[in-house]
Amino acid sequence: MLLLGFPECLPQARQLAEALNCRFCEVELHRFPDGESLVTLPTPLDDTVVFFRGLHDPNTKLVELLLAFAAARANGCQRIILVAPYLGYMRQDIAFKPGQAVSQRIIGEWLSQQVDGLVTVDPHLHRIQRLEEALPHCRSIATSAAPLLGEFAKSRGLDGVLVGPDDESRQWVKQVAAVCNLDFVIASKERLGDREVRITLPDYDYRGRAAILVDDVISSGRTMAETAQQLLARGAVAVSALCTHALFAPGAREAMANAGISPIWSSNSIADAIGDATPDESGCIDLTPLLATAVIRLEQF
Ligand code: R5P
Repeated sequence: MLLLGFPECLPQARQLAEALNCRFCEVELHRFPDGESLVTLPTPLDDTVVFFRGLHDPNTKLVELLLAFAAARANGCQRIILVAPYLGYMRQDIAFKPGQAVSQRIIGEWLSQQVDGLVTVDPHLHRIQRLEEALPHCRSIATSAAPLLGEFAKSRGLDGVLVGPDDESRQWVKQVAAVCNLDFVIASKERLGDREVRITLPDYDYRGRAAILVDDVISSGRTMAETAQQLLARGAVAVSALCTHALFAPGAREAMANAGISPIWSSNSIADAIGDATPDESGCIDLTPLLATAVIRLEQF
């Protein structure tokens, strides 16, 4: 088995190859002046090739994966596995207006035709229960970082109330709470725009308590920022955040800092967030063991 890493996620890809005890090489990428990509795979390839690439900021990455998968097949690869710690395009799961493309179904269908197996972590599945429904043509494993977030909270001795900002976060918050044995509450959220949400906190005595926000994704950061502002207004003394995928869209860190959230802890699923891991410790929860176990399970199917 050969594991191939893309330039922006080499440390994580290499760590996974070490955990799997398999050969590791890099995919060579070249961007032409007009924005097109040239993808070159190392040859010869093994029968099974595992591609490692998170799919945040996904548009160019998906085209490059399409080229890479085709090049792998053309060079004799029999079985392709994609390890995408973050699987993008999963949040748009219905058409909210006539004419809207349902990206979860479209991208899921397409990806699952390209690969034989896919491993990801906490894909944002809201109206469907199982990843297979989004990826109908390949084997897939969705593993969860929530127990690791819980272990992290426990090992740091975090104290306070865990707060999920919306009903979708309940699944992760419950798991984290079960591991670190803290109280939790779930707020409700109304999304008013890409960077505007309205949060309603449930009744709870937040006065004098620390609050730890827990969610799967931080994108614009506004969900966390708005929740933090409400918590502080209701008497919480400090607000920190714990999440799986710190996408940090432009302005997210500032919005969260301005709302008084510190620190922000996340897994290392988002390669680009790791480069500046301090002061908020993005990337400090390592997903490698989780991903390695999932790839081994996939191999056993
Ligand atoms: C969606 O419900 C997710 O769980 C997150 O709450 C959401 O993606 C966060 O988005 P943002 O950071 O842009 O508020």
